Amino acid sequence: MVRIGIAGIGGRMGREILAVLQSDPESQLAGGLVRPGRVAELAESFDRGIDLYDALPALAERADVLVEFTTPDATLAIARECASLGCPLVSGTTGLIAEQLAELQELATRIPVFYSRNMSVGINALLACLPSLVQALDGYDVEIVETHHRHKADAPSGTALALAEAISTAVRRPLEHHAVYGRHGVAPRQAGDIGIHALRAGGNAGEHTIVLADDGEEIRVSHRAYGRRTFAIGALRAARFLAARPPEFYAMPDLLASESRG
Ligand SMILES: NC(=O)c1ccc[n+]([C@@H]2O[C@H](COP(=O)([O-])OP(=O)(O)OC[C@H]3O[C@@H](n4cnc5c(N)ncnc54)[C@H](OP(=O)(O)O)[C@@H]3O)[C@@H](O)[C@H]2O)c1
Repeated sequence: MVRIGIAGIGGRMGREILAVLQSDPESQLAGGLVRPGRVAELAESFDRGIDLYDALPALAERADVLVEFTTPDATLAIARECASLGCPLVSGTTGLIAEQLAELQELATRIPVFYSRNMSVGINALLACLPSLVQALDGYDVEIVETHHRHKADAPSGTALALAEAISTAVRRPLEHHAVYGRHGVAPRQAGDIGIHALRAGGNAGEHTIVLADDGEEIRVSHRAYGRRTFAIGALRAARFLAARPPEFYAMPDLLASESRG
């Protein structure tokens, strides 16, 4: 039985993780972390028996691992505190800038940290297959289109960036020179562009399409999350994986490899 704390429990992902956790016989809720001063207000929207905290030490004492889906600034504040408290951390927050990601990796020398910009098995399988597909289609135009709900803060999505990074590495076109984020005005496609486009509308939990095309044909590879449940299931699998690991920076391929080994 793994005791799990949820940081950002009042948010969309936090509530979904709670719902999945409550029907998971291998996990137990240690409590939820909310922003300072919000315990009383948020407690009304949770069933009795769900313990809310606005400071990490009391929650970390009861938890084997903390799962957090918050905001990039909160992620780093939480990760620093987890490192001081010796609490393993699963993070799914997107929109981290390079310096924040580097600090998270540095903190993983002190505690186990699992970070994935997409916790679904489908996207991670796609990330694994993508290099051979784009290498086989050398010279084809590459564009990525993602759609998310109207509340999503960061653009493009962390998943779109992960897909673009996988493609850019496979075709050896550095993203900083070849990424084109949307187009406006006179903006014809340049050879080697990796176009990345973000749509924000309605309640879409996450949809990504990679378009690979030349003059004669086109391949579209799409992934659509039917809801947040698939991400929540992945986050809890990551939490169970992380609870007994030594300090290191882990990602989805580590989890999938360990599960396939049994
Ligand atoms: N990796 C994946 O598979 C995956 C999947 C879906 C989403 N995400 C990412 O997960 C993140 C959260 O998404 P969401 O849709 O759940 O957002 P959300 O609904 O806005 O939830 C974020 C929650 O974090 C809380 N929070 C902010 N700062 C905090 C702090 N210092 N301590 C405790 N709680 C704090 C917010 O509280 P307040 O309301 O009080 O500000 C809010 O309840 C985003 O970066 C999103 O892109 C990742």
